[in-house]
Amino acid sequence: MTLDLRLAPMAAVTNAPFRLVARECGGGLLTSEEIDARALVAGSARTLELARYLPGERPIALQLLGADPDVLAEAARRLEALGADAVDLNMGCPVAKIVAKGQGAALMRDPFHAALVLRAMRKAVGVPLTVKIRGGWDDRTLNAVEIARVAEAEGVDAITVHPRTRSQQFAGAAPWEIIAAVVAAVRVPVTGNGDVRSVAGARAMVAATGCAAVMIGRGALGAPWIFGGAEIAREEKARIVRRHAALIEAHLPPRTALVQLKKHLAWYCHGLPGAAATREALFQAPSPAEVQEIFWALW
Ligand SMILES: Cc1cc2nc3c(=O)[nH]c(=O)nc-3n(C[C@H](O)[C@H](O)[C@H](O)COP(=O)(O)O)c2cc1C
Repeated sequence: MTLDLRLAPMAAVTNAPFRLVARECGGGLLTSEEIDARALVAGSARTLELARYLPGERPIALQLLGADPDVLAEAARRLEALGADAVDLNMGCPVAKIVAKGQGAALMRDPFHAALVLRAMRKAVGVPLTVKIRGGWDDRTLNAVEIARVAEAEGVDAITVHPRTRSQQFAGAAPWEIIAAVVAAVRVPVTGNGDVRSVAGARAMVAATGCAAVMIGRGALGAPWIFGGAEIAREEKARIVRRHAALIEAHLPPRTALVQLKKHLAWYCHGLPGAAATREALFQAPSPAEVQEIFWALW
């Protein structure tokens, strides 16, 4: 059975260079970081930057964050015009200042409003419309199945489920049985997500839930080769890290590039002896060249 493994969207982490590396390692459909719908419609340059992708990334879903049906519909239209192969709605972001605006995971608290939002977005675009949901808001409102049914009824083409509730944040194990319940409740393909750290883990999730694809977030940090499905030699890993570093320097503005290089190379240190001290030195380094020098001395 072929496994469809996908990189999970992670704000300030899964930018174009990392996404392209995940694809080159064998990852399936990519998803952008969350893009604020209102800022996109207002024409914010920084927000437009988040919607940028490299040609090799297609097919790519661009993900929107918002709560207002008209604004989300207009933002979805703009993303379609920018070449998005799918538009995804974020219904999972747990961040306090986001949910305070009724966005992200807060959309799950109001299925009626969620339906209005999805209806408006569905009318706005011809490309597939997808949603990424949680188990629910908290333990008393585990409504992933209800929200998934609403989404399907509004014409959503696929659903990703990260089964923790908003209140759970990242605590506790992700309750995969919620993914299984959504798979059983809808006909559209369901992507499972949560706590997958290996290919064996992905296979276990498919076996336990029947999901059509598996999305991997934290398990891909410093290890994009997870998408290849097999163990690879150290030299091959080094080639991938070099490629990632080169893409960061080539495609991100200099200040962002330096931060991203530090962040990702720090993740690539994981498990190496002396990683803690090297990480500290990496974060102090003033230039990309020095960051790379420190990293490769450890590697
Ligand atoms: C740093 C970070 C940023 C994230 N940003 C987003 C985001 O922009 N959009 C989204 O839908 N989920 C976001 N998530 C959630 C992940 O996509 C995923 O659902 C979660 O990490 C669980 O999967 P994992 O156990 O494989 O990491 C983020 C997670 C992390 C750790």
